[in-house]
Amino acid sequence: MEMSGKGAIGLPEPDKETCLSRLLSARRSVRRFRDRPLDLRTVSQLLWVSYGYVTSRRRVVPSAGALYPMEVYLAVKTNGVEGLDPGVYLYEPESHGLRLVRSGDPAGDLYEACLRQMSVKEAPINIVVVGVPERIVAWYGDRGYQYMVLEAGHIGQNIYLAATEMSLGTVAIGAFDDDHVRRVLGLRESYVPLYIFPVGYPR
Ligand SMILES: Cc1cc2nc3c(=O)[nH]c(=O)nc-3n(C[C@H](O)[C@H](O)[C@H](O)COP(=O)(O)O)c2cc1C
Repeated sequence: MEMSGKGAIGLPEPDKETCLSRLLSARRSVRRFRDRPLDLRTVSQLLWVSYGYVTSRRRVVPSAGALYPMEVYLAVKTNGVEGLDPGVYLYEPESHGLRLVRSGDPAGDLYEACLRQMSVKEAPINIVVVGVPERIVAWYGDRGYQYMVLEAGHIGQNIYLAATEMSLGTVAIGAFDDDHVRRVLGLRESYVPLYIFPVGYPR
């Protein structure tokens, strides 16, 4: 093919009416939330699309070598979720369940760890995406760190789109103090917090 660099090649008009197109166009970062709890079904859906949804022994999130080196944590503030005590929970994709790792309201501490971003404090929940290098660097060496970051992006996009679909708001938070977030979640030093998603009803 001749690449003269003269005119661009026009493409057919994209279909803006597909489910995905509509979701994508409705997605926007939301940073202010109403003081309204989420129900457990909504939280379940968010966690499931983030890392739990398994099809043909693979998850809906692509993963280098299908190693799935990530963990997803749920930080619930007081009265944040109907039927769930405040605390930090580890999401367990295999059983699609939650395991309490820290009790007590984590919102204030997480807010401090995220350089006092109001969205983190206001949201009834925060979903924290964490990479576990031990699960991937043995295979890919240092490149494994890059792969964890990329996988966090896939998880994050799923959370954004699921929140949009359920008329909830969220924002990808990347500005935080890693050590502080580790302390809030009770994580080992090697674990890498990569992304935090406050989720709630938009104001
Ligand atoms: C890697 C990354 C880190 C981000 N960190 C923050 C953050 O710490 N705080 C925040 O309010 N927004 C953060 N954002 C959200 C961006 O500000 C937002 O996506 C951008 O302004 C575009 O707006 P939109 O998401 O509504 O399209 C981050 C986004 C990305 C991709």
